[in-house]
Amino acid sequence: MKRKIVTCVCLIVFVVGCSWMADLLSVPIQGSPEIKGRGEQDIPPIKKKQLLRWLKAGNYRETYSAESEVHESTGPHGGNVRTYYNSVLVGDLNDSKTIFSKGAAMVKELYFEGKEDVIGYAVMIKVRKNSGNSGQGWLFYESFDGTNKDAIFGRGLSECADCHSVGVDFLRSSFRP
Ligand code: HEC
Repeated sequence: MKRKIVTCVCLIVFVVGCSWMADLLSVPIQGSPEIKGRGEQDIPPIKKKQLLRWLKAGNYRETYSAESEVHESTGPHGGNVRTYYNSVLVGDLNDSKTIFSKGAAMVKELYFEGKEDVIGYAVMIKVRKNSGNSGQGWLFYESFDGTNKDAIFGRGLSECADCHSVGVDFLRSSFRP
């Protein structure tokens, strides 16, 4: 009897352990496991270091919807730019939503004078359902040199949100894929 119980307990531990491992392994490496839902795979990481690494890896270029070409920014964003939207945002725009879902994200490549080399990045990720008046629901990131040394990073940052608040749920670009 005792042996049966021991075997049984071992089996349970084994099964639970396996599913835990499977969970761990199935967490998308470049996605953010904190945000679930449509397009979970292409949500940028919400930690600064991981985010920069993810941007440099450049996989968003394959999965995001991109503006057709590099063009001059109409905002204060490093000369020439190219903006990319993830599938959550594209889905919301196609559904004519004016408040975007958690997980909606935009990446903006900053080229400055040139048109070939990406020098910096600006990123916005919707991390809460409600954006709030001051953009508390949005995570803002900007690096002008492709490093995190002087990068701007945080939720509801007034230096970004004040200007972006006139957009559609803080989206300023007129690009509609
Ligand atoms: C003075 C206004 C202003 C400020 C301040 C500003 N932006 Fe923008 N931003 C714009 C405009 C205008 C656009 C769209 C036109 C373009 O492509 O430049 C834009 C576009 C973007 C985009 C592409 C998605 C979108 O909303 O169109 C991102 C991402 C972005 N900005 C991030 C940031 C971050 C991060 C900050 C703060 C560090 C910031 N912005 C500060 C005006 C601003």
